Amino acid sequence: MTTIKNVAVVGATGKIGRPIVDHLLASKLFNVTVLTRNGSQDRGFPANVSVKEVNYDSIESLESALRGQDALVSAMAFEAIHMQKNLVDAAFQAGVKRMIPSEYGNDLLNPKLAAFPIYQPKIAIREQCEQKVKENPSFSWTTIHNASFLGPDWTLDFIVDVKERKADIKDGGDVLFCATTYDDIAQAVIGILTHPEETANRPVRISSVNTTQNELIAIAKELGATDGWNLTYSQTENLESEAFRRWSEGDHSEEVIAMFINRAFIGKGWGGYFPVRDNDLLGIKGLGRDELKAIIKLAIDR
Ligand SMILES: NC(=O)c1ccc[n+]([C@@H]2O[C@H](COP(=O)([O-])OP(=O)(O)OC[C@H]3O[C@@H](n4cnc5c(N)ncnc54)[C@H](OP(=O)(O)O)[C@@H]3O)[C@@H](O)[C@H]2O)c1
Repeated sequence: MTTIKNVAVVGATGKIGRPIVDHLLASKLFNVTVLTRNGSQDRGFPANVSVKEVNYDSIESLESALRGQDALVSAMAFEAIHMQKNLVDAAFQAGVKRMIPSEYGNDLLNPKLAAFPIYQPKIAIREQCEQKVKENPSFSWTTIHNASFLGPDWTLDFIVDVKERKADIKDGGDVLFCATTYDDIAQAVIGILTHPEETANRPVRISSVNTTQNELIAIAKELGATDGWNLTYSQTENLESEAFRRWSEGDHSEEVIAMFINRAFIGKGWGGYFPVRDNDLLGIKGLGRDELKAIIKLAIDR
């Protein structure tokens, strides 16, 4: 039976990286090491976290930092996903037993998403991990799919902006999607590291809540945001074709990336809703409707 005790985290200063570090520490189950870019500031990790500066261009630098680590959790920024290539090589060479690459989003194993250019870097890293397992099965990986973040600062503005009372309703507004709090994503990391056999070499799919655009608007209205909604309507199929057209013309703007994400996230049968989830295995309780309501209230009042 594999036991994971020493855990390294990269991207630990980021939006999801920091909650992951805080939960790993709070569990008191792990020794936590943070790898950070050369020159990055120490962002106030507690004294029991070992902080190591690394050079992501150097496999040697990464391998030396990863020696003795049982697991590597990556929360690398979206724009730096490709930099995990050296990390996978280094983790493999250093004898790391489990790598969790930076995913934390839609289900990229859904074949409909396979051709989306924005997801190619993440898909390439997962394929690299799969290849490493073939070379030596003592290395293993798990990816976490949580669909949208449900952050403390209401990261669902792109779906329904409950404060400004505006939304672009996609595909009629009744398509179910998943959203997951930072606490539950961090719990998924702990659940994987404490269930290494059950989670080896596969994605885990989790969510705190499953909801729809129309339900979020209805709850916001119940909470008093009754009037003045500015609603527009679109079809994610059209967003997809426009995104592919503009991308092929060299337009890689945030607007085009958002079109791909919206299609991947909210298109029915695409990557943002998981009918089967690993919540129970990983110890994720999820949110009741009252807790979702409380988060929406905070988002309205922010
Ligand atoms: N599902 C969702 O709704 C959602 C939303 C946002 C993000 N995500 C995903 O979650 C993962 C983490 O994203 P995040 O938003 O938490 O990341 P972030 O806060 O933007 O950045 C995470 C960390 O990456 C490290 N990093 C290393 N090289 C970098 C570079 N060249 N440029 C920028 N940062 C670099 C930095 O740590 P150091 O300075 O310590 O090296 C940074 O703090 C990504 O896979 C992203 O796609 C999902």
